[in-house]
Amino acid sequence: MYWGDKIVVAVGGGKGGIGKTTFVANLGVSMAARGRNVVVIDADIGAANLHTILGIRYPEKTLNDFLSNSQSDLAGALVETPYPNLRLLSSASDVLSLASPNYGERQRLFRAVQKLKADAIIFDIAAGTHQRATDFFSLAPIGIILLEPIPTSLENAFSFIKNLLVRGLLRRFYHDKEMTAFIQNTVDPRSTEKNLHFSDLLLKLEEKAPGKIGAYRQLFLEGACKMFIVVNSVKDPKQKQVGEKFARIIKRYLALTMEVLGTLPYEHSMDDAVINRVPFVVKYPDSGFANGLSAIVSKIESQNLHEAALE
Ligand SMILES: Nc1ncnc2c1ncn2[C@@H]1O[C@H](COP(=O)(O)OP(=O)(O)O)[C@@H](O)[C@H]1O
Ligand SMILES: [Mg+2]
Repeated sequence: MYWGDKIVVAVGGGKGGIGKTTFVANLGVSMAARGRNVVVIDADIGAANLHTILGIRYPEKTLNDFLSNSQSDLAGALVETPYPNLRLLSSASDVLSLASPNYGERQRLFRAVQKLKADAIIFDIAAGTHQRATDFFSLAPIGIILLEPIPTSLENAFSFIKNLLVRGLLRRFYHDKEMTAFIQNTVDPRSTEKNLHFSDLLLKLEEKAPGKIGAYRQLFLEGACKMFIVVNSVKDPKQKQVGEKFARIIKRYLALTMEVLGTLPYEHSMDDAVINRVPFVVKYPDSGFANGLSAIVSKIESQNLHEAALE
């Protein structure tokens, strides 16, 4: 998908409760404060709470306004936030049908997001490794995997990335039944080849379909597809190394190059900010979290990636 000169970021991590929504809200506020016209998209449909962290109790418009009216454009479903240059596409809803927009609805939504007039778009991705989450994530040229320095977070992040990559491969071969079966069988945990590394899978695919996978493999090996790590809620300086360690594991087992974008400290007052419905960086602009985030924003702004490499 081509995004023109927009900065498009997706924030996922596989696990719930690790700070994805908090990060997206504060990232949005920080980028908007630097003068960019930013839209944050709550893609955690069914468990939306981005609006609350941004201080909006009842969003007047939501994604549902877009989905339920085939004539509408997405700009009409955005709400202003208390922060200049920052708009929100909220998924807050009591409507059950909104919990799972179908494939067609998602495609319509993706096309509409692409047409949005904005300098930056940030997706808050749901927990879990289901296709709805990975689909949204693979739209963005800049993918950020948020980690907490605990094994369960690393475990879920690994599964999230693996599912994302496997679905990327399946998309490439969707018209080829034999290859699809081969990929599915290889990644099936019951398969005899279960110890096969993802990099070996790529090599095997290249053998089976010369020329088809080369460019895709290259993206991995050269790190041209940008997947980043942010370690959140760091309580002890040693935990900062978790990001590098995770990147090594991903490189080894999934052949993907990931770069650590930064680390953010654990902040005791984070929940107070949520209770007061004010983003943490607004309430505590001189905190370690705000400084860490500011360094991350600079790194994001220095990337020059406008196409979704994993698509
Ligand atoms: N850096 C941090 N320090 C302390 N608490 C944090 C930090 N980041 C997030 N939290 C807290 O963790 C909880 C989960 O955050 P949330 O953003 O809702 O996670 P997710 O979207 O991944 O489910 C919230 O109570 C939030 O205030
Ligand atoms: Mg969340």
